[in-house]
Amino acid sequence: MNKSKRAAVIAGNWKMNKTRAEAKALIEELLPLVKDADCSVVVCTPYLDLETAVNATSGSNVKVGAQNCHWAPGGAFTGEIPASMIKEVGAEYVIIGHSERRQYFGETDETVNERTRAALDEGLTVILCCGELLNEREQGIMEEVVGKQLKVALGGVSEEELKNIIIAYEPVWAIGTGVTATADQAEEACAFIRALIAKLYSAEAAEAITIQYGGSMNAKNAAELLSKENVDGGLIGGASLKAPDFAAIVAAASV
Ligand code: PGA
Repeated sequence: MNKSKRAAVIAGNWKMNKTRAEAKALIEELLPLVKDADCSVVVCTPYLDLETAVNATSGSNVKVGAQNCHWAPGGAFTGEIPASMIKEVGAEYVIIGHSERRQYFGETDETVNERTRAALDEGLTVILCCGELLNEREQGIMEEVVGKQLKVALGGVSEEELKNIIIAYEPVWAIGTGVTATADQAEEACAFIRALIAKLYSAEAAEAITIQYGGSMNAKNAAELLSKENVDGGLIGGASLKAPDFAAIVAAASV
């Protein structure tokens, strides 16, 4: 495996934060700090901030993503947003299957698969999330849990389409808790995921796919996590809400 062959991607997951005015201000502060980044930089904003973010990042090296999309192209799904509308507003990425969607909004591996399919069909790049709960890690079943999540989520996804998927490994016990997985734990899980991709697709597909770590990644611990062979980037929650912190993680991925 040759890490340098893969695209490093640092993506911010703003979750349910930032008004449009705040989004514009954060992006304006961020752009000069990351303009020389040697990795892809993405901000995933609330739906209502997408247009503001697309305008504010226009002409820059920062891309914009949403945090979810529905599987249907349109219809009677009150409160939902289809992939086509995300695409139309100019966003290029979408997070699918985040653990908060699974925990609080009834997201299942099957709906994650359907949403992934819909996003790929619209030409969006999917940041596909997986990760085990604390009790699952304690029971020693991380591989079973993550393996099943990914096998179901990737059902019907071709090797060609896989080029538009980034996998984010996010142990649920590390999200928003300040407890980071150790660099070795992150590496072990990301290496397991890469081996699974080799089994499901091919060695080439496994070598090429970007696998992020997410869960309390911050300016201080990013360099160590990102130094690992199979950790190609990060999905950043809390630390993406402050431009200097997010920029420091981008810098750590750019060395
Ligand atoms: P965190 O969130 O960085 O605040 O732990 C990561 C995520 O949920 O994507």
